[in-house]
Amino acid sequence: MQQQTLQLLQQVQNNTITLLAIAQLKDVLRYHELQYYVHNKPTITDYEYDQLYHTLVRLENENPETITPDSPTQRVASGLIKEFVTVPHLVPMLSLSNSYNADDLIDWDRKCRELAKVNTIEYCIEPKFDGASISLIYENDCLTRATTRGNGVEGDDITINAKQIQSIPLHAKFSQYGLQQVEIRGEIIMTKANFATYNNYLLQQGLPPVANPRNTASGSLRIKDPKEVKRRKLDAFLYHIGFKAEVGNEKLGVGGEKLEVGNEKLEVGGEKLEMESGELGNQKLKIKNHSGELEMLTALGFKSPTTKKKVVHNIAAVIEYINQFEKGRDDLPYEIDGMVIKVNNLAQQEAMGMTSHHPRWAMAYKYKARQATTQLLAVEYQVGRTGAVTPVAKLTPVAVGGVTVSSISIHNEEYIKEKDLKIGDTVIIERAGDVIPQIVRSVTEARTGKETMITFPTQCPVCNALLVKEEAEAVWRCSNYNCKEQAIGRLIHFVSKDALDIKSFGEQNVIKFYEKGWLTNITDIYKLPYQELATLDGYGKKSVDKLEESIEKSKQQPLHRIIYGLGIRFVGENTAKVLAQRITHLLDLANYTIEQLQQLDDIGIKVASSISTYFGEAKNIALLNELEALGLVLQNEKKNAIIEGGLSGKTFLFTGTLTQLKRNEAEAMAEAKGAKILSGISSKLDYLVVGTDAGSKLEKAKKITTINILTEQEFLELVQ
Ligand code: IVH
Repeated sequence: MQQQTLQLLQQVQNNTITLLAIAQLKDVLRYHELQYYVHNKPTITDYEYDQLYHTLVRLENENPETITPDSPTQRVASGLIKEFVTVPHLVPMLSLSNSYNADDLIDWDRKCRELAKVNTIEYCIEPKFDGASISLIYENDCLTRATTRGNGVEGDDITINAKQIQSIPLHAKFSQYGLQQVEIRGEIIMTKANFATYNNYLLQQGLPPVANPRNTASGSLRIKDPKEVKRRKLDAFLYHIGFKAEVGNEKLGVGGEKLEVGNEKLEVGGEKLEMESGELGNQKLKIKNHSGELEMLTALGFKSPTTKKKVVHNIAAVIEYINQFEKGRDDLPYEIDGMVIKVNNLAQQEAMGMTSHHPRWAMAYKYKARQATTQLLAVEYQVGRTGAVTPVAKLTPVAVGGVTVSSISIHNEEYIKEKDLKIGDTVIIERAGDVIPQIVRSVTEARTGKETMITFPTQCPVCNALLVKEEAEAVWRCSNYNCKEQAIGRLIHFVSKDALDIKSFGEQNVIKFYEKGWLTNITDIYKLPYQELATLDGYGKKSVDKLEESIEKSKQQPLHRIIYGLGIRFVGENTAKVLAQRITHLLDLANYTIEQLQQLDDIGIKVASSISTYFGEAKNIALLNELEALGLVLQNEKKNAIIEGGLSGKTFLFTGTLTQLKRNEAEAMAEAKGAKILSGISSKLDYLVVGTDAGSKLEKAKKITTINILTEQEFLELVQ
């Protein structure tokens, strides 16, 4: 596939690609989607993918009759979904019986063996994904429908939203297994990492965060804006084939109502079991067990619990595996709430059948709940470095999933209202993996009438200054810049790992030195009275020397770390990098207008205004001047080194449309100064020159911090 990719890329670049390549383009793009979204191992750059993708879009636009519903271009949705139509499942989506301990499993195993009339049963054990269940129908290798569980018999048609989930293939070659139509079941989940990112985003927008990945995943399926679904970066794991119809056969069901295979053929036990589920050419592919089906799903390009599953031959081994798996639960990238144990042999499954609610051949084993009920005793208010006042609920300590929780952030006034929280309430809290605990809800049914309202303070709990709230913000802030908590917060931020990374400084030292009166502003960090410091209890000469050494070393930190360390509101690490790449000296930013700042990548009006306000304040300019006088490097050293030494040995790449120069002229100018032109983004690249309509190259370059990103104008200034 890699070779085909290269051939196609060459054709695209030489402009020799024709309509004949459409099928190949689709296959190649599908392959790279699989590598990227399912295996997390891309083998081409985003830019190369985009080149192929856009070529397919172009060819399809020119020849609309070639568009198939499973083309990689067909995920794109425009507009809003008007309503979700209710549709029947091909087979009812049953739920699972639950077990909570080894005895439950031993009982179930006995029943299974009785039912199947055998002495031993082979079980397949796999994670129980904590998300929202869905079913997908594929017909002639093409995804034709995605449905929510609904009432189990019928659910909502959410096909458009499912197509926004990149790990759901639009095309899967079930025909290789002799299958013309299948209905498969799985779980839509949000990974822990994407959940944390999403909650940060909500908080930044002043919106209340969501309690757990499960609710977020299930809520996402019925959103009417498919673009929003895409933005949430959901994932899908598929773990069960509910219905199969073979090529050439009328519906041939397995395990469902529409089952038409004569049961008499399926003798349970012994060697006579035969479940031939497909053909590959003339050679029959016999999938006789569940673990084989999981492997088939993986082979077809789905995410499936194949590598996490285990096949064992007795219930003792089942119990051992689920206990062992629980130990690694927190290390999984997604939430699970238990394990599912399935009779592995499909013929045995079929013979065992189901009750009206559950299959008899499967059992969920639930891990310890991560939810707990406790009392909300009081609310305290913490002041952060930006003055933001965060309410923190103090709780009767309670154990949740192995940790004791006694306080929980309740974010802001809006959140308190939305969750209808009162002091004295019984609340349900949840710890979603290693994510910070959240309050799921207050148990209003348990109220006695003695609960009291939570009244947000009007004054700073630390310095008594008035609290202020900006329009369109959910956060109250202390209005006193010199408030002790704000000052300490700013200092801690400045020395922290992602900012100036002053080793061995730490929170405790900040607080201690602040109280001693040695530290008020970040400039004081570079004026510490080391001799006096060495006389403090617990501070030997050695540790003071070490501290001094790290402080001195921090003066050489790159500009983006200083910018981040200043703690300008909304300026995170990425924005700091964008800014640092643009300027030759930090104080240049004082000359940028809000409009100019907005021209920079990823900087919107909110961030631009905040930067402009910061550099508009005389006290901040004085602070920066003093930092420079104390020896910090506010120059963008990389840029200057180039200007002084020519471009010899430097690597360049141009992307987008240049307006003042032709691409080859620009390249020649760079080469004339000794530079080398590269063809793609990599860590070897020093400069990316960006014209208008720059696409994925720019996106990719932004992720590599060593690449300098220049406008055409900046490039001209550099070479002239
Ligand atoms: S098998 C007929 N396998 O758990 C087979 N279910 O509490 C039905 N679930 O409704 C399901 N991970 O939504 C199965 N590996 C897994 C699962 C799983 C999560 C969900 C599923 C089901 C619920 C039951």
